[in-house]
Amino acid sequence: MVSEPDLVLRERIGAVEVLTLNRPDKRNALNTPLREELVRALDALAEDSTVRAIVITGAGEKAFVAGADITEFAGRDVAEQVAAMQGRRVYDVVAAVECPVIAAINGVCLGGGLELALACDIRIASSGARFGQPEVNLGLIPGGGATQRLPRVIGLGAALRLLLTGDLVDAAEALRVGLVEEITDPAGCLPRAIAVAERIALNSPVAVAAAKRAAAAALGLPLAAGLDLERAAFLACFGADDRAEGIAAFLEKRSPRFPGR
Ligand code: COA
Repeated sequence: MVSEPDLVLRERIGAVEVLTLNRPDKRNALNTPLREELVRALDALAEDSTVRAIVITGAGEKAFVAGADITEFAGRDVAEQVAAMQGRRVYDVVAAVECPVIAAINGVCLGGGLELALACDIRIASSGARFGQPEVNLGLIPGGGATQRLPRVIGLGAALRLLLTGDLVDAAEALRVGLVEEITDPAGCLPRAIAVAERIALNSPVAVAAAKRAAAAALGLPLAAGLDLERAAFLACFGADDRAEGIAAFLEKRSPRFPGR
């Protein structure tokens, strides 16, 4: 097999890491090497306390990610697909990242691409982006989380419309149903995602991570249990050095410099 170098490009901008999925000729379709490379990059970033937010985007102007690499499905039997779905899944690795992850959706965002975006915390889309879960056209359903994460993000009816029809929707419709948080012009998508990441990176990493964990837990917990979790997370923040710096900076009328612990 011809090797595909640099499947995930990494660029550091201050405290923000930009990961660019780099198979533009295949519309950044997620093949096994690309998934593995993305997991490796995220594992490396998890060890790096100077990274305070991550942006994921696609190379080229056409695609964020056009889904799982369909050619890999073609040659597999069920046992091989079972094996391929074992171990750590890239979607879960993205969702488990401690710092915020922002999807800069620069083009088509289909199937596993939308599942990857759903595993991110904030989605910013180019006006030219299109979204869909077309797996039913292939005799499949999503296998990277969309049947579970999509209803949680946009509600059951809007999710089922995408899941059952396989139809694509444009960026305006994605914004209307709450699938993305913002739309930009095509050139502005990545810069806007980086700007949001940089804004987040100014805040206390301890508080940002706690807010992310608590809000994500809200989707799976009864209210009383979620409120207990929030209280515990609040008190954990209260005991952290970041809180001391944040309060001191406010009282001294200066910008905080959070130590991140
Ligand atoms: N898996 C594997 N290869 C893919 C792919 C995918 N999901 N999506 C695109 N490609 C490949 C095409 O096969 C083509 O390869 P080739 O140049 O070797 O023939 C190349 O990417 C460019 O695709 P093309 O269809 O020519 O580009 P386009 O810009 O006209 O259309 C899409 C882009 C994404 C709309 C179209 O490729 C498509 O519908 N892809 C499948 C999407 C899908 O069903 N995803 C869910 C998978 S579960």
